[in-house]
Parts: sequence; structure tokens; C-alpha cells
Amino acid sequence: MSQQDPLVVFTPSGKRGRFPVGTPVLTAARQLGVDLNSVCGGRGICSKCQITPGYGEFSKHGVTAKEGALSDWNAVEARYDEKRGLKPGRRLGCQAKVQGDIVIDVPPESQVHRQVVRKAASARVIEMDPATRLYYIEVDEPDMHTPTGDLERVARALKDQWEIAQITCAFPVLSRLQPVLRKGKWAITVALHKTTKDATPQIIAAWPGLHEGGLYGLAIDLGSTTVAAHLTNLDTGEVVASSGIMNPQIRFGEDLMSRVSYAMMNPGGDAEMTRAVREAINTLAEEIAKEAQIDPSLILETVFVCNPVMHHLLLGIDPVELGQAPFALATSNHLNLTARDLDLTTLPASAQIHLLPCIAGHVGADAAAVALSEQPGKSDDLVLIVDVGTNAEILLGNTTRVLACSSPTGPAFEGAQISSGQRAAPGAIEAIRIDPVTKEPRFRVIGCDKWSDEDGFWDETAATGITGICGSGIIEAVAELRIAGLLDPSGLIGSAAQTGTDRCFAEGRTNAYLIHDATAEGGPRITVTQGDIRAIQLAKSALYAGARLLMDEMGVDVVDRVVLAGAFGAHISAKHAMVLGMIPDVPLDKVSSAGNAAGTGARIALCNLAARAEIERTVRQITKVETAIEPRFQEHFVAANAIPHATDPFPELGKVVTLPVVGFNTQGDGSDGGRVRRRKRG
Ligand code: FES
Repeated sequence: MSQQDPLVVFTPSGKRGRFPVGTPVLTAARQLGVDLNSVCGGRGICSKCQITPGYGEFSKHGVTAKEGALSDWNAVEARYDEKRGLKPGRRLGCQAKVQGDIVIDVPPESQVHRQVVRKAASARVIEMDPATRLYYIEVDEPDMHTPTGDLERVARALKDQWEIAQITCAFPVLSRLQPVLRKGKWAITVALHKTTKDATPQIIAAWPGLHEGGLYGLAIDLGSTTVAAHLTNLDTGEVVASSGIMNPQIRFGEDLMSRVSYAMMNPGGDAEMTRAVREAINTLAEEIAKEAQIDPSLILETVFVCNPVMHHLLLGIDPVELGQAPFALATSNHLNLTARDLDLTTLPASAQIHLLPCIAGHVGADAAAVALSEQPGKSDDLVLIVDVGTNAEILLGNTTRVLACSSPTGPAFEGAQISSGQRAAPGAIEAIRIDPVTKEPRFRVIGCDKWSDEDGFWDETAATGITGICGSGIIEAVAELRIAGLLDPSGLIGSAAQTGTDRCFAEGRTNAYLIHDATAEGGPRITVTQGDIRAIQLAKSALYAGARLLMDEMGVDVVDRVVLAGAFGAHISAKHAMVLGMIPDVPLDKVSSAGNAAGTGARIALCNLAARAEIERTVRQITKVETAIEPRFQEHFVAANAIPHATDPFPELGKVVTLPVVGFNTQGDGSDGGRVRRRKRG
């Protein structure tokens, strides 16, 4: 190129260079390292290389682009426009040739590494850097005089046409390669997958001709209670369908340790649980593909995040070692497998499976995914991230250090083991307020935006009915009982006489509070019992004790901000979480919600190969704190039983709500009101 050659400036990258007249824009982009997509290699058939030329005066770039700075619209573009339609002003980068100085915009949909905007509040955007990409090639036909295999000629085509020096081929693809080549009349599209940036790519799928059906991946958050999946277009990063199912392993035990016990007590129990979860994932993949109306054979990658016990059971590894100190993992490294390895028969046998690394025996790939999504190690202020589920993952850190632990909260936060509890579904009470004067409740249910004292509420909920309380509902209910003076700091519900409301009624030797009675209409009687309060106290004490243990380790008494994560973390009210004493005292505006951070971490790893390497490095830098063997955990747990907390002052909370001074422990019935005893890890 010389100083007389036309100047080409690409936006938004700002990359610029001079190119001889007649250079295709795609070639110029490649030489400058501009991110411009192409599947067909410039043959004018894939349309991935669309660009928007800009004409006129661009003082910012020092360029004046005149009409005629690009070659005229050619027959290939005209044919494409006629068949599929090009947006006004667009050109195909492989067809338009440079004739004069020009500014060329690469729209997001033509960038391989485009950014995907996340709906969640958290700041991190996902940059596309997919591990699997499509390449269209034209392969030489076999020749008796120079005998070579079909695969060798495919490899040569990739080298000649895409400068890909070496490839391997997954065996299930090799077995179908010959008919695909012949059907495509020696033109095929291959999906090449790389496990790392510099790894040798492997052919994991092949289609006759130009494949236009797209590529998809699944990001799966495999939890003890639920399995959530996001079906993602690996070209655009768009989530095309999301779905979830219950983890069928629940029938072997509600929490992790009861599943480990099941495996210990029942020969073959681990294999039974492995089968159950793999079947569920097959069903989930089938359903989600159906919902998105795509062929499951197009799902070529899956990323799993899960806790260590789920991780081992998915892999078919007996989790027995995770049930006893020193809680050794079979492996803490990330894993690259295939669908065939895990019997995921809904997916193509060569579909790639990636499991994020585990942090330690009780801190799994789900916590690693939260770290990837929320990046505590890049935070200047000290952030506490709690991913609330049956087992809570807790991370505390800033740019200097990141600590992690898991805490056995049990399923109460998910509405399980609660007398009127249910999963978050239409009809479930998700929010509740109790009038401190009248002690009367009003509530909102999933599926209706109105409160129960607003006009139209009962009509709008007639179809679903009021069916129970979900996790966020029970947290609010317990906190509201405390705010309204119906519950004392030790967690005892007062009697009707002590509280002055008939909504408090005796139930055995303790009291309960009636939220809603639908028995007249054949519905349930929804109450909060003393047992429910105890279950929530257990869960919140475990959560708080875990957080406090990390704070001790960090040598701090306060944190700067708190992020609530987990599918249900998105719905927890910060004020109620603090009244309950679930989280340390911080200004309410410093509590934010990250939605399903583990699921987001899985999506990031699915869409971005570099992120997989990043989390590998990050995980090695996280200090893991073991709650199960730490005596201070027990101390913190006991101190955290009170609502909000017996010893830690909550001055920030005091600015928002005044908690009444009440005490109901003198019932004279000899009952301990169901004193809280620490749950075993699970
Ligand atoms: S590169 Fe495929 S149409 Fe231009």
C-alpha cells in the first residue's frame, strides 16, 4: 500500500489503513484485524459480512468520502437483495471494493465479538467470543490418481480457504462426513470448536452446502432443587428460550448431604441419582428446543455450573468423599467433555460440554460462575455476594482479595419445609405487609400486580387462587411479623392475648399467625407457624454466620455493599432481609440484586472462550473458607438466631424502621418454642 492508495477507516473500532483500489472491504478488514464476520469466506452467500459505508465529510477521521468510493452494487449483492433483502445502505463486505477514501461502519450483527446487553441490573456485558464457529468450504473431489481421504481434503480446504493449519474431527461427525460431502456436492459447512484460544480446532458438526440454521448452546445452572437452562444463539448471544425443571434427585434427599448419605447407604445409589439428573437434562433440552422451535441437533455446546455434589453426580462420580473431611473433590479443574460422555442423548453425540472449575470441596462451579458474573475481585469497595438457594454460596472481596464459602441454609428460602410453603409459581404469596396497628395483612401473589386490598385483586387471582407462600414471601412474612410486634427478637410468635389480634392463634404449645383462610372456597389456610419461623431462623443464621466468618477472615466488621443473587435473590426486599438479619447491616441503597448470577456466569462462559480461561485463573486466587470445621461458624450461628441479631448492632436498619420491644417467652407452658438447633451441612 502507498500514500496514494485510498484510506479506509472502520468504525466503531477506529482501525484505519490504505489499500490499493479494488481491494474488497472484507480483505481490508481482515488485514487490519477488524472484527467483521464471514462464514462463506467471501463467496457472497452467507451475508454475515454486511457493512454500512459512510459518505461525506468526517472531520473526526480526517476523511472525505465521495460517492463512488466503493465499487458499484454487483450481481451477487443484487441477487442476495432480491432473495433475502439487504437493509437500505448496507453492502456485502466481500463484494464491495475500495475505490476511494471511505468510512465503513461494521454493525453489531456483523461483528463476531459483539457485546450482548444484559437485562439484569449488574454492569457486566457479555462479549461474544464463541468457542464454536461455522466455516463454509469447497472441497476437492476424490481423484483415483492422487488418493486421499475425504477428511484430509476437508482439512486441506480449511487450510487453503481459511488458513486453519490443523484440525481434528469428532468421531460421530467422521462417520457421517461422506454422505454430507456428496449431498453438498463437495461444498459443506463445518462447525469448528476450540477448547482454548490456541487449541487445535475440532470438527463437531457438518452440513451439506451453506448451513443457515444457526448454532445454539445451553447454559445450565444445575441446582440441588431446580435445574434452570438458557438456550442461547451462539452467533448473536441472544437467549431464545429459558426453562427450568425440578431436580428429580429431590426424591433421594432434599439437601446435598442427604443425597450424599443416600449414596453411602444404598449401593448403586449414586448411579441412580446420576441417571435421574441426566434424564431430566435430556427432557429439559428437548422441551427448551421445542419451545424455541429449533432442532436439538443444533445445540452444539452446553456449559454447566453446579455445586460439588451435583457436579460429581452429573459426572457419574460417587460423591462420598464430599461428605467427610477433608472434602476431597475428584477434580477441581474445569472439564471438557461431550454429550456422549454424559449420555445426553437429546444433544448430538459430539456436542461439547464444559464444566466450570470448582473452588473447593464445598464451594463449587456455581460459586465460580457467580465470581465470573459479579467479579468481586475487580471491585474497589468491599462487596459481599450471597447466592441464596438450598445451599448458599457466599463471596466477599475486593481488588485485594476474594474469599468464598458455602453455607447449609436448607430449602426454607425456596419455600420448602415451610407449612404453607410452595415454589415460586402463580398463586404464591410473594410479598406481604402487616399493619403495625391493626395487625391485618395484605399481600401480593405471583401472576397479579395488585395488592390484596386493591380493587380487582380477587377477580384477577380467581383463576390461580391463593395457593401458598414462596421463598421471598416467607422472608417478608417473618420480617413483617417482627416489625408489627407479633414476633419477639427470639423468634416467638405471641398469643392472641399478648398481641391483641385473633390472627395469632394457639397451635399446640406454640402460636401461629393466619395470613389467609380460603377453606370456605375449598382453598388452603395459609399461616406462618412457629416451626416456619424456626426453619427461617436456621436458614438465615447459617447464611449470616457464613458471611460473618468471611468477614472475620478478612478482618472487617462491616462491608461496603451487599449483592443478593440466586433466582430468588432478585425478589428479596433488602429491608426485610435486614430486619430478619440475613445479611450484615449496610445502608439499604447499598443492597442490590443480581438475579441468577450463577446462571449469568454460565451464559458468559458459554458465549466467551476467554472468560473460561479468566475464571480458571480467578478460581485459583479465591481463598476458600470451610464452614463445616470452623468452630466460629457455630458461635456466629447461635448469635445470629435472634431477629435481627443478638449482638451485632444494626444502626443502618434503625434509620429505616423501628422494631418494637416485645417479649413473648414467658408463656408458662414449659415449651422452648421450638428452639433452634443447627442443621447438619446440606
Ligand atoms: S463473506 Fe459471506 S457473503 Fe460476504
